[in-house]
Amino acid sequence: PKIYAITPTYARPAQKAELTRLSHLFMLVPNLHWIIVEDSNSTTTLVRNVLLRAGLDNRFTQLNIKTPPEFKLQGKDPNWIKPRGVEQRNLALTWLRSNVDAERHAIVFFMDDDNSYSVELFAEMSKIKPGRVGIWPVGLVGGLMVERPLLNDNNQVTGFNAAWRPERPFPIDMAAFGISIDLFFKYPQASFSYEVQRGYQESEILRYLTTREQLQPLANNCRDVLVWHTRTEKTKLSAEEALQRQNKRSDEGIEV
Ligand code: UGA
Ligand code: MN
Repeated sequence: PKIYAITPTYARPAQKAELTRLSHLFMLVPNLHWIIVEDSNSTTTLVRNVLLRAGLDNRFTQLNIKTPPEFKLQGKDPNWIKPRGVEQRNLALTWLRSNVDAERHAIVFFMDDDNSYSVELFAEMSKIKPGRVGIWPVGLVGGLMVERPLLNDNNQVTGFNAAWRPERPFPIDMAAFGISIDLFFKYPQASFSYEVQRGYQESEILRYLTTREQLQPLANNCRDVLVWHTRTEKTKLSAEEALQRQNKRSDEGIEV
C-alpha cells in the first residue's frame, strides 16, 4: 500500500537539515508519499528545493497554513506549553479526504520533521490491515528509553508502559502509530484539536478511530524500536547576530 506521511514543518535555522535527512529516507522507500505542510503564510522555495533535489517529483504534496498567533510558541515559552502541528495535520487530513481514492488501501502516518526513522519502520507499517491502526514502540520519549504497548498471550494490546501521564487513553507518542486510510473516511470528524490538555493530541485523534483492543501490534510484537523521538538542539547564532549588527552575514547568497 501507499503510505501518506504527514509532516508539519516551520522555518528555523535547522529546518533544511531536518528535511534533507527525511527526504533521503523517502529516496529509500518508494511507496511513501510526503504531505508536507509548512507553518507559514505561503509555501517556500527552500522546502520545495529539498523535495526536488531528492527526486520526489510526483511523490509529494506541498501545503501551507500558519498557526494562529494565539497558539504559536513565543521565544522563551517552554516547548510543551502549546500543541504543535494541529492546524497543519488537520489541513493534510482535509487534503487526503478530498484527493485520495477512498476505495484503495493506504496508510496514514504522522511524521514529525525532527525524529529519527528507520527504513524498516515503513515495511512494518505496510502490514497495517484495512480498518486498523498499527502500533509499535518509540525510543527516547516520555522520560524512558522506550515507550511501548504491553501485549497479552494473544498479542493484543492490554496496556502501555508509559511513565508520563499514563492515565491518557492512549499514552503514546505521535510516532507510535499508523492508520488505515479507510478510517478517515468512515469517521469524517476525526481531527486534532487545540482544546485538549498537554500530551493528549495522540489520544484525541485515536479516540475517533480505534479502541485499545483493536490496535494491530507491529515491529516484532512491539519488541523492536524502529523510530526515536530525537530532538534537535536550538542553533546558537550569537556570532551571526554580531555580524548582522554590522549589516553582514555568513550566508549572503547561500541557502543553508
Ligand atoms: C511531541 C510529539 O512528538 C509531536 O507529534 C506533538 O505535536 C508535540 O509533542 C505536541 O505536543 O504538540 P515535540 O518534539 O515536542 O513533539 O514537538 P516538535 O517536534 O517541536 O513539533 C512537532 C511537529 O510540529 C514538527 O514536525 C514541527 O516541525 C512542527 N511544528 C512545530 C510546526 O509546524 N510549527 C511550530 O511552531 C512548531
Ligand atoms: Mn520533535
